[in-house]
Amino acid sequence: MVFVSKERLKSPRARLFIALDLPDETRDHLVAWGGGELRDPALRVVRPESLHITLAFLGYLPERKIGCLEEIVARLRAPAPAIVLGDPVAKPSLERARIFALPAASEGVETLQAQLQGDLVAARLYKPEKRPFWPHVTLARVKSGGRGSKRPMAVERPPGKLSRGLLGPAVCVRVTLYRSELNPMGARYTPLARVELSRGGRQ
Ligand code: 2AM
Repeated sequence: MVFVSKERLKSPRARLFIALDLPDETRDHLVAWGGGELRDPALRVVRPESLHITLAFLGYLPERKIGCLEEIVARLRAPAPAIVLGDPVAKPSLERARIFALPAASEGVETLQAQLQGDLVAARLYKPEKRPFWPHVTLARVKSGGRGSKRPMAVERPPGKLSRGLLGPAVCVRVTLYRSELNPMGARYTPLARVELSRGGRQ
């Protein structure tokens, strides 16, 4: 009998997700606004290049599936959605906040997400989440209390309302497949494939 270790049987895996990128202008405005509003020492602020709206979190998949995911992203045909950002919200609650995020309500994002989810499910690469899709941009995560505590630190100065420049609709044209690598300082996201959606019209 040939002995093959369990380790060798496992194919290499990647932690993957597909997201809608924010327009550069919105990102710049957010960074400027965050410089004043995301200063509480309990917050680990998301890097500017990592600000996005997650459309599908795939978790760990075999690396050999990446090609198929790239094709699904490249074939997306929904029009580029316009989003309207809302003021920051704390999840699960202000008293026990773990993240601060901006709601990004948009019919167009719902349509795009539904199309993407359908394609991923058909390819057996995704199991839809039980909770309804909540389009949002995570701005900051709350650090843990330290000394092994899993409880989040108290946030004395939660972020205030958005600035004027962030209130209007913003058209998001780019969808990206990201690889996420976890490290103690926060995740690092590497783009693997991208598609530019057309601004309205083509379905
Ligand atoms: P979040 O910003 O609201 O935490 C990469 O981790 C991206 O996938 C993040 O934007 C994260 O959303 C999202 N995501 C969705 N479901 C997730 C899950 N179960 N675990 C980790 N990230 C998830």
